[in-house]
Amino acid sequence: MNAPTRAGNGKVTVPDIVSRKSSPSTEAQLTGAPPPRKLTCLTAYDYSTARLLDEAGVDILLVGDSLAMVVLGYENTLPVTIEEMLHHTRAVRRATRRALLVADMPYGSFHGELSDSVHNAVRFIKEAGAEAVKIEGGERRLDLIHRLVEAEIPVMGHIGLTPQSLHALGGFRVQGKTSAAAEQLLRDAHAVEAAGAFAVVLEAIPRELAAQITRELRIPTIGIGAGPDCDGQVLVIHDLLGLSFGISPKFARRYADLRGTISRAVTDFCADVESGKFPSDAESYHLPAEARERHPSPRRR
Ligand code: KIV
Repeated sequence: MNAPTRAGNGKVTVPDIVSRKSSPSTEAQLTGAPPPRKLTCLTAYDYSTARLLDEAGVDILLVGDSLAMVVLGYENTLPVTIEEMLHHTRAVRRATRRALLVADMPYGSFHGELSDSVHNAVRFIKEAGAEAVKIEGGERRLDLIHRLVEAEIPVMGHIGLTPQSLHALGGFRVQGKTSAAAEQLLRDAHAVEAAGAFAVVLEAIPRELAAQITRELRIPTIGIGAGPDCDGQVLVIHDLLGLSFGISPKFARRYADLRGTISRAVTDFCADVESGKFPSDAESYHLPAEARERHPSPRRR
């Protein structure tokens, strides 16, 4: 269940992620050091997809609670349970050799007593092989993030549009557009860093604000709908592959049309079965020659 952690084998670790933080431009100009490579992060929920992403060199695989929507068909992320998240994290664990594996703490799993929240986070590390957990929320998660870090659990923060706050926010909408809201987001970002998070996701906030947060923090920022100035980018894999239904937000660039590919393949299969073209004789098993006389062959296609 555990991740291979031998140093020097290309395994991405939490310190590797932290070391990919871009330096402030003045410092970079002084040292002449090239900027670090931007971090790549994608969601994964199953063995085969995770294996492909890991082999393609993605730095961080996130078992996001978007699982609720893109895999389980719920309207939002609120219903997914800790048992469902653990089940999918284990599948991704079995596939992942190189990437850092981060599991999202689902709604309700860190909203009660601190000790229960720590217990739930420990389950992701111990029972599912995650190497870090992601927690939605800023300032108000300070104590929790601190406790988790004390329990040796690396934490990725998540601020801006936090889908678990759907009802409180009144919908999925861009955050931080007024100066008061932007100030609050800056405080959230600093609080998450001060509490000990090793990175923070910035979701659906203005580019200018994401750039400022990225400049001010010492930990890497990973953007989704937060513009190109973050230290890395994350997307939901179903959006990237053209596998999601409904309207995609404008930041969700589609790199493939797997819905079209799957539809065509399945339509072709149905047509071939119905017309008798599948399976062919070459795709069938046969009796050995001596037994064939007793079981005469049907007409071969
Ligand atoms: O659950 C998820 O997929 C996420 C990413 C969008 C960051 O939290």
